[in-house]
Amino acid sequence: MTSTVTLNRHGDIALLCIDNPPVNALSPAVVDGLIAAVDAFEADRDYKALLLYGEGRTFVAGGDITAFDLPDFSARPLNRMLNRLESLDRPVVASLHGTVLGGGLELALACHWRVAHPKTQFGFPEVKLGILPGSLGTQRLPRVVGIEMALDLISSGRPVDAVTAAKAGVVDELREESPLEAGLAFVEALLARGAGPRRISERNVPADSVPADFFDRALAQARRAKPFHPSARAIVLAVQASLRPFAEGEAEEAKLFEQLRTSPESKAMRHLFFAERQAARIPGLPKDVELRPVRSVGVLGAGTMGGGIAMNFANAGIPTTLVDTTQEALDRGLGIIRRNYEATAAKGRMTTEQVEQRMGLIHGAIVDGALADCDLVIEAVFENMDLKKKVCARLGALCRPGAIIATNTSTLDVDVLAEATGRPADVVGMHFFSPANVMRLLEVVRGAKTAPEVLATVMQLARTIRKVAVVSGVCYGFIGNRMAEVYMREAEFLMMEGASPAQIDGAVEALGMAMGPCRMLDMAGIDVGAKTVIEYGKTGGLPPDDSYRAVVRRMFELGRFGQKTGAGYYRYDGRKPVADPETARIAKELAAQHGIAQRSDIGAEEIVERLMYPLINEGARILEEGIAYRPGDIDMVWTAGYGFPDHQGGPIYLADTIGLPVIAERLAHYAKARGNAFGYWTVSPLLASLAAQNKRLSDWTPA
Ligand code: 3HC
Ligand code: NAI
Repeated sequence: MTSTVTLNRHGDIALLCIDNPPVNALSPAVVDGLIAAVDAFEADRDYKALLLYGEGRTFVAGGDITAFDLPDFSARPLNRMLNRLESLDRPVVASLHGTVLGGGLELALACHWRVAHPKTQFGFPEVKLGILPGSLGTQRLPRVVGIEMALDLISSGRPVDAVTAAKAGVVDELREESPLEAGLAFVEALLARGAGPRRISERNVPADSVPADFFDRALAQARRAKPFHPSARAIVLAVQASLRPFAEGEAEEAKLFEQLRTSPESKAMRHLFFAERQAARIPGLPKDVELRPVRSVGVLGAGTMGGGIAMNFANAGIPTTLVDTTQEALDRGLGIIRRNYEATAAKGRMTTEQVEQRMGLIHGAIVDGALADCDLVIEAVFENMDLKKKVCARLGALCRPGAIIATNTSTLDVDVLAEATGRPADVVGMHFFSPANVMRLLEVVRGAKTAPEVLATVMQLARTIRKVAVVSGVCYGFIGNRMAEVYMREAEFLMMEGASPAQIDGAVEALGMAMGPCRMLDMAGIDVGAKTVIEYGKTGGLPPDDSYRAVVRRMFELGRFGQKTGAGYYRYDGRKPVADPETARIAKELAAQHGIAQRSDIGAEEIVERLMYPLINEGARILEEGIAYRPGDIDMVWTAGYGFPDHQGGPIYLADTIGLPVIAERLAHYAKARGNAFGYWTVSPLLASLAAQNKRLSDWTPA
């Protein structure tokens, strides 16, 4: 047939095998192969049934995302083929295993019958790519599982297991054998009982129990919850169209799919899909590097971060020892972990047995000797160089040979800490984000002497605990916090110039940022932010500018630590931020002290430019210095760790969307308008050179 799709005879059964590693995506070649296979089956009347299955680790995991940008891309050939497949006059069976996602599930639903391995996962993850199931998934799924479940699954992108899929009628039988054996056994039984074709498109959507205002409410909810994602609204409309005759629903789905596929939002989200996978690749790391086993983990420091870090490992079934200096600090840490698990259980997302099982995996101790046998120890003590150096020296002596020693520092020099252990090859940075059990990002900081197998082990471990790992070189703040520093710098200058925290946050939240800088720091703790700035000052890292981050320092002096003390940039009514005239007074006083003129004409556009363009500029510096391996890594850091909107694709992708010449020109404008005594507005040589050539940062690779 073709190299990716073959049709073979097994008695009177036609065996259609899809073999397109790694995930059998429906590439144009696979679609061509499927069309040819349907032609051949149709023409050969000796066949009594057609069995589809996938070679390798999975049935089809979806349409080929790499093909969506091809100039001649069209879902039509695939959709026509699916309708022909369904209309065949002899039984068509799909035997499923692995991850039956997107176009893979659409292919399965076009078949008459479905048998699956009990470990199979089913889902429509298209929404995560800013699109909708465009090969009749929005039309066939509601006809099987009903409107409500179909809308829930397609809107959330959430996968379901085989038992759930079988209960909902997506799967007819679960079988343990290989896909081919299971499929053959199922087809033979089907033929023996004389069963014929059975077409989902001929069914009516069971919609009797759906309230009259169901879709209006769903649309309103999509607008409210996902204002920046057109796919959320389109999915509601497409599922609603499934109530109409099949051909009409099909046309509506095709129209909506095409609008989404060509939308900037979907392009940005597809960029992130590939960026996430790229980030796992580390240049220069031998492929055959032998990983170190990590069967037990130790965490030193049971504070905000240590507790969350320990939860990650317990969630993955890895025994974890959590150590603090006093019983009180330890009990507080363990208590917070328990309350977190219990809150999850109260929401029905965990059983009480699971709570106990995970708590049972976390062993508390107040003597660090308990860490001596751990395979990996992560220190998460206060952010203070002297303390961390002491702690690292102790861990270097204490941890068993071959154990990995990691630091969760957010800004300090990992190479200095590595040397302090006396065994720098074993040391790596593992920078988790708060709350560490929730945030997807893990910055893995590669020290000058980090051993390749240490790096590779930690990257693999990140997959185990379901984090997106991005490697950073050593510098102040690594990728994320270094960029956040210039963002915060401008937020504070704007405040001193007269903009309110609500104005500043509102401007970037309108772009889709989950939280503006002021709300973010109030939540993370102004004390944490201020101490970082102060520590950095001690190393001589700060610009010789007294007004630099003056607001955070003053807030810290005044004990305004943010949410935790009831006031920071905002005042807190419970957890609700409200404008606080005291902040405006502090900003005014600081402006006077530092000779900064206040003005009333600061608009949203200026705020966005002054926050985002220096951040992008710093990203370009990070690239040219080799701190990040590739532009997409920076986009992953910001979308997975800082609430940067996925529909904007990350800061580097956004820079290319805006155009580098525009950014370079605006940086130059602010250098003039604001003065550039401390180099705040100096355009990075990389950005300047790419802007001059009208090139994109996203396409840049190191020479
Ligand atoms: N298209 C193209 N390439 C794909 C792909 C797809 N749908 N799914 C995975 N790949 C590629 C990845 O880019 C990666 O390539 P690389 O090795 O060159 O980096 C390789 O397959 C392996 O992927 P992962 O590293 O993600 O492997 P995992 O084992 O961790 O995960 C998976 C496997 C669960 C299938 C995961 O890859 C995944 O979630 N894939 C996307 C599934 C998806 O979104 N399907 C819907 C596609 S859109 C669609 O079907 C439209 C239709 O409605 C018309
Ligand atoms: P925290 O103050 O909540 O917790 C620190 C804990 O370490 C305390 O429980 C303290 O008793 C304990 N500790 C201090 N010295 C110790 C020692 N010698 N041995 C054992 N335990 C000791 O601090 P937090 O916020 O958890 O920060 C810890 C580290 O994580 C810092 O390096 C910080 O920069 C980093 N980090 C913090 C983030 C945040 O948002 N809070 C985000 C990412 C990293």
